[in-house]
Amino acid sequence: MQLGVNIDHIAVLREARKNGDPDPLDALSICKRAGADQITIHLREDRRHIQDSDALHIINHSFLPVNLECAIAPEMIDIACTLKPHRVTLVPEKREEVTTEGGLAILGDQPLLLDAIKKLQYNEIEVSLFIDPDFDTVQRAKAVGAEWIEFHTGKYANLHAMLYGNLAKTHHSIPELELPRKILRQMLADELENMKRLSDEAVKTGLKVAAGHGLNYQNVREIVAIETIEELNIGQSIIARSVFTGLGPAILDMKALLLR
Ligand code: PXP
Repeated sequence: MQLGVNIDHIAVLREARKNGDPDPLDALSICKRAGADQITIHLREDRRHIQDSDALHIINHSFLPVNLECAIAPEMIDIACTLKPHRVTLVPEKREEVTTEGGLAILGDQPLLLDAIKKLQYNEIEVSLFIDPDFDTVQRAKAVGAEWIEFHTGKYANLHAMLYGNLAKTHHSIPELELPRKILRQMLADELENMKRLSDEAVKTGLKVAAGHGLNYQNVREIVAIETIEELNIGQSIIARSVFTGLGPAILDMKALLLR
């Protein structure tokens, strides 16, 4: 299974001081040497971490394909078409969110989305849509002509953390925390089964399937077991581990878990 390493959080640290250090560009050769298959960056409209100059230099200097995440806003699509990364993953964006909280809603007639896909593909950029694992949304992703879908694994990761992790320390207001473990276990199994079924069906229609968000060293195995998911994009947990181990070992540890 392929690993896209999301290096936004290196820029988060840099932006805390805005003194140029650490530079996400320095991660490129380490990612490649440690066995990453792709570099993923998110150029947010509020530029809270990755800046335009980062995106430019990373795309121009990466030894690995670059997957640029951005909103469907026309100015972002124009930037993406100028930068020409290997792939663009279209994501929903809200300024006040801490991180991408859900997948793209693909409902009815969506001229902005259709226009974005058309422009990107005209520029020979692969298009992926970051979506919730939902039957209708997968069908619509296929209908609008995306090559890839990426499942938002946030719900899965939250359920996993509620059952086996320490989410209670950090997310006090989640009502499911009060649910009996038996019910949580069933919800987790249902979420995985749903993702597997949707992924299998999506691949049959010719889509390629990736997944990401909230995946870590504890919860990734069950997702790796879904054979039709081709690629995972993982950021927070790898960069968090790298603070203690260095980036190379943190990627190697994750790659080992992705072996099938
Ligand atoms: N995939 C997409 C489309 C994302 O927007 C993100 C960041 O939210 C990730 C993967 C990586 O998520 P995380 O940092 O939680 O591993």
